[in-house]
Amino acid sequence: MAPLTGKVAVVTGGSRGIGLAVARALLERGADVAITGTSADNLRTAQADLQRTAADRHVLALRADVRRYEEVEEAIGAVASRLGGIDILVNNAGVGIFRRVADMARKDWHTVIDTNLTGVFHCCHATLPHLKARGGGWIVNVSSLASTNPFQEAAAYCASKAGLNAFSEALMQEVRHDGVRVAYVMPGSVRTEFSGRSPGDDQWKLAPEDVAQVVTDLIAHPSRSLPSRVEIRPSRPPKKR
Ligand SMILES: NC(=O)c1ccc[n+]([C@@H]2O[C@H](COP(=O)([O-])OP(=O)(O)OC[C@H]3O[C@@H](n4cnc5c(N)ncnc54)[C@H](OP(=O)(O)O)[C@@H]3O)[C@@H](O)[C@H]2O)c1
Repeated sequence: MAPLTGKVAVVTGGSRGIGLAVARALLERGADVAITGTSADNLRTAQADLQRTAADRHVLALRADVRRYEEVEEAIGAVASRLGGIDILVNNAGVGIFRRVADMARKDWHTVIDTNLTGVFHCCHATLPHLKARGGGWIVNVSSLASTNPFQEAAAYCASKAGLNAFSEALMQEVRHDGVRVAYVMPGSVRTEFSGRSPGDDQWKLAPEDVAQVVTDLIAHPSRSLPSRVEIRPSRPPKKR
């Protein structure tokens, strides 16, 4: 039997990029999966694509902006009632707006922090009761190497991901005795449409599937162990001259 048969996973930002690859990998390992995002069109396309991967599995696609607690609470409640509970939450939804601090509009600052940090709090807060009701589960947060390697024109993004690391470690200590394991993954550059990029560029970058493999490997660990932080980077980036 596939290792995640009978498990239910929620992947935020599961309509594109890394989240879509994570959703597919979880389905391939037997889980039922719910994805969220803000664009109904992207969600529809992703749901059809995922359902082709696993016709015998449930694939829910729910519009929910992680910045809005009411939308998150409604989506998480719908997953739990339609699929019978929740075992795995992958907080992947994220945005990057890259400007010098002096040039950054305050609304852009709030968009980055509200999505990448407060959005994760919203999803954890709404999902934890469901994980505890199942006797435990997993929360995997998708951070970034930018969290520990800040660079210019990325203050909001780096701060949001550094905050996410601290949030993850504090939460990990709060809930591990309830059987809920919390980990965060820090990828380097991944080939996606993140921040308006073209995914065809830069073949040296990680593929979304590489990050998805880390997530499923984490979840496969025996219940006595908790690998709580993983860095993954391209093995052969362009050489610095
Ligand atoms: N690509 C990289 O190089 C890289 C490196 C390190 C870490 N990461 C992190 O990996 C995660 C995924 O990035 P990606 O590269 O896969 O980006 P992506 O291709 O742009 O996908 C982002 C996903 O998040 C969703 N999303 C954005 N804002 C949202 C919101 N407010 N509420 C709900 N969903 C929202 C998007 O759906 P809609 O557009 O429909 O809302 C989409 O499904 C992010 O947290 C990012 O910071 C990326």
